[in-house]
Amino acid sequence: MNKVFIAPSILSGDFANMGKAVKDLEKWGGDIVHCDVMDGVYVKNLTFGMPMIKALRKITDKTLDVHLMITKPERYVEEFVECGADIVTFHPEASQDALATLQKIKSLGVKCGIVFNPDVDIDKYSHLFKYCDIILVMSVFAGLGGQKFIDYCLDRIKYVKQLLDEQNLDIPIEVDGGITEENASKVVEAGASILVAGSTVYNSKNPKKTIEKLRGTNY
Ligand code: DX5
Ligand code: ZN
Repeated sequence: MNKVFIAPSILSGDFANMGKAVKDLEKWGGDIVHCDVMDGVYVKNLTFGMPMIKALRKITDKTLDVHLMITKPERYVEEFVECGADIVTFHPEASQDALATLQKIKSLGVKCGIVFNPDVDIDKYSHLFKYCDIILVMSVFAGLGGQKFIDYCLDRIKYVKQLLDEQNLDIPIEVDGGITEENASKVVEAGASILVAGSTVYNSKNPKKTIEKLRGTNY
């Protein structure tokens, strides 16, 4: 089994103190900083944009994983990279040209990937896998933290894994939404190696221990 990386989502951190939210996750042993960018159009909520990434870049060396829930992400990928993103993922159906967007991100020297909402046809976009450094499978509908894990998404993770194997691609699968200490091992068994966790980490009484449990040692 691959090493499992934990990516706490700062969406569940204190918006009045995002610097602390990042410093906390470093202290607790989180591996990656998952940043949920929402535009109020692709999803209903609005969160934050480039200035937040730029500000966080100054205070952490951790990987900044920017999950774009925005329409026409191609408009902004360059700026997100300039502000310090290390990974930029976007929802392919929100882009006018997903391949060109992936290639643009890649040409800027950072990692790129596509994100699958639970109702998006994976087959429609699997030809893009070879241009990706990461595939993000949503296990809730993008747009809100603290939702319940959708069980049928486990099969979608397995399906992405199968398609990657068929294409001889060894790239990580990240899973996002509703991940808990109880379901993390199933998600890893299905093929994920990066687990995003917002509320489970930030609402935990002992976040360090929670991160250890999410990562697991007995998968
Ligand atoms: C949902 C976001 C997730 C969310 C995860 O739109 O993409 O990253 O913050 O939060 P939890 O872990 O609470 O479901
Ligand atoms: Zn996310």
